[in-house]
Amino acid sequence: MPPLEEEQLFPSTPGKIKIERPAHHHPMNRGIHRCFASTFTMFLWALLLIALTASYLSIQSFVDSGGRYIHRPVPRHHVIIGGPHWEKQIRSSAQIHRPHGLSVLVTGAAGFVGSHVALALKKRGDGVVGVDNFNDYYDVSLKNARRALLETNNVFIVEGDINNVRVLAKLFDVVAFTHVLHLAAQAGVRYAMENPHSYVHSNIAGLVTLLEQCKSADPQPAVVWASSSSVYGLNEKAPFSESDRTDRPASLYAATKKAGEAITHTYNHIYGLSVTGLRFFTVYGPWGRPDMAYFSFTKNIRNGKPITIYRGKNRVDLARDFTYIDDIVKGCVAALDTSGKSTGSGGKKRGAAPYRIYNLGNTAPVTVPTMVSLLEKYLKKKAKKRVVTMLGNGDVPFTHANISLARRELGYKPETDLATGLKKFVDWYESYYVDDHGMPVNY
Ligand SMILES: NC(=O)c1ccc[n+]([C@@H]2O[C@H](COP(=O)([O-])OP(=O)(O)OC[C@H]3O[C@@H](n4cnc5c(N)ncnc54)[C@H](O)[C@@H]3O)[C@@H](O)[C@H]2O)c1
Ligand SMILES: *[C@@H]1O[C@H](CO)[C@@H](O)[C@H](O)[C@H]1NC(C)=O
Repeated sequence: MPPLEEEQLFPSTPGKIKIERPAHHHPMNRGIHRCFASTFTMFLWALLLIALTASYLSIQSFVDSGGRYIHRPVPRHHVIIGGPHWEKQIRSSAQIHRPHGLSVLVTGAAGFVGSHVALALKKRGDGVVGVDNFNDYYDVSLKNARRALLETNNVFIVEGDINNVRVLAKLFDVVAFTHVLHLAAQAGVRYAMENPHSYVHSNIAGLVTLLEQCKSADPQPAVVWASSSSVYGLNEKAPFSESDRTDRPASLYAATKKAGEAITHTYNHIYGLSVTGLRFFTVYGPWGRPDMAYFSFTKNIRNGKPITIYRGKNRVDLARDFTYIDDIVKGCVAALDTSGKSTGSGGKKRGAAPYRIYNLGNTAPVTVPTMVSLLEKYLKKKAKKRVVTMLGNGDVPFTHANISLARRELGYKPETDLATGLKKFVDWYESYYVDDHGMPVNY
């Protein structure tokens, strides 16, 4: 076991990660012991002083470097990384229960898509370990509820940031992952104007840290990761095909996803990592993301609060190729199953490895007002609508996926239309947020 003192003194996620150390008991002569102990104690105090100064300085520069850099870490309980109990949990979670099963590290496993895919993989007998930093971009209690659901299915989520090299190294130490499903990211288009650095932190720096770990792992895992339909940006040619131009992003979020496609390409090219990028189109469904329109609209319509509907230039309604979560899950699983192997080992490339990009959409764009009228129907309540013409806030006028490539190579075939999927979402919403007497819970 490598020494872990460093981790204790300089956790890369401030105040969140504690590394457990095995206790050492050295039988010693008492005199020597006392003398050693006092020198050792002084040494420890000195170390602590240095550490405190260093962390104070680094926190200062952190704070100075531009506002809220990452989200506030949320203290939940004492998080312990490492140690025999922890390793046992990881191994059990990663245990494969079917012939030729996969062993998958899922980043962003407490998130919307991550929790669904992690469960689906576990249910068919694959080994799954999650990692997530549980940041407070949206309601952390929802992330904790997803974690609880996964735990009852023996999927363990390590609380850590993908920028934390030691957490990643430790995980790869314990498990020889065959695949990494990378879904951790700072999502949301409009929030990028409020907190741009959180996008760089998770979608660029975090991605590179993760790929560095993957490329030096032996064996190298195959990487499947979430890009986004937002890379099509101001593309006006519909439907969007993978070969269309993606050099005109309309938001910083889109730009970081586009950067991710370029960055993963270099790791494929230099190190022989098998890479599959999935461009998701507006994913929705049960356990979804509270920051997305369909979710916050549901909440506001139920509570009799107004909703803001954005409209494009010339009063054109925005339209989205809404894709139901179960279809996305099938696309992710198919991408893992067909990924092909990475060729490198220990950072050395041995031959060409696959580099693939697929749209995962529904191929049936629906306007936002139509989505709202479906919600009104299922909630049996009229929305108080405020229609606003959008002013370049990162939203694009419409999205529409051409999925023929994913259909051909992944067998991807979306099966749930928006009416059916939204009904399932509303049913989940009411079971999760409303009790038997119609009173709100889980807020
Ligand atoms: N939901 C959609 O409509 C949609 C569309 C296109 C692309 N995507 C992409 O799909 C992926 C999953 O999206 P989602 O909707 O499930 O979002 P989500 O926010 O619910 O899930 C992302 C998870 O990653 C975690 N995370 C963020 N930064 C992290 C970091 N630095 N270290 C560790 N964990 C971190 C978050 O805590 C969260 O639980 C993301 O990459 C997102 O950009 C989603
Ligand atoms: C969809 O994409 C495929 C390539 O995968 C292309 O051959 C086809 O022409 C595209 N269809 C449309 C309608 O753009």
